[in-house]
Amino acid sequence: MKYTAIVLAAGKGSRMNSEVQKQYMTLGGKPLIAYSLEAFEKSAVDEVIFVTGAGEEEYCRKEIIDRYGYKKVAQIIPGGKERYHSVFEGLKAAAGSDYVLIHDGARPFVTEEIIARTMRTVREKEACIVGMPVKDTIKISDCENKVLDTPQREHVWMVQTPQAFSYGLIYHAYEKILAQPDCGITDDAMAVEKMCNVPVCLIEGSYRNIKITTPEDLVTAEAFLRQQALN
Ligand code: CTP
Ligand code: MG
Repeated sequence: MKYTAIVLAAGKGSRMNSEVQKQYMTLGGKPLIAYSLEAFEKSAVDEVIFVTGAGEEEYCRKEIIDRYGYKKVAQIIPGGKERYHSVFEGLKAAAGSDYVLIHDGARPFVTEEIIARTMRTVREKEACIVGMPVKDTIKISDCENKVLDTPQREHVWMVQTPQAFSYGLIYHAYEKILAQPDCGITDDAMAVEKMCNVPVCLIEGSYRNIKITTPEDLVTAEAFLRQQALN
């Protein structure tokens, strides 16, 4: 069985509002993107497809893949305008895989343990995503910020990545949803939820598996690294 990780690093990072794109920022002495590439390198996945911004492939090959010696990165390919375009480019490049694990390169704290759990579960369930139960109460609002509903907290999860699927399932789900004029999906599971009749299984990630999105996330990330260094 061939497991391929698609590591996404093709966004503009507009919410970070920084000079250097967030995926290339230095975190604990290394580019932020190196952390997730390293976790997949050490994991049991067979191959990694690294999706980067158009024109950034050479920089990534030299300054990240070759520099840190990641052997599992089989392809470096340009992504697209939205995250879902980048994922679809990654899926096309992953042809021949049995399972794919799609991961936000902006989540540096993914662990080998989370990856192993995801690989075990996808083999059994075909579609699984990591997440954690929310800690806050969540409200659903209308467009005037009036509360419409309060879902039962024990059934509300915040979802993370990796999100893993059997290859045929996710490829066809994406192919179908991208044919729609404004697909608007914000994670990979949504493509399966909307287009296929296969349940998506939630499994435990970690409260540390944060996505670096805004400047305060960097403060949290530095704190996690300091704590790890003490252990
Ligand atoms: N991503 C991608 N291609 C895009 C947009 C996003 O590969 N066109 C990747 C990012 O590199 C990131 C992950 O998808 O690893 C999650 O996206 P997000 O945190 O939204 O990153 P950006 O889109 O870069 O940030 P922003 O939305 O603030 O502009
Ligand atoms: Mg984005």
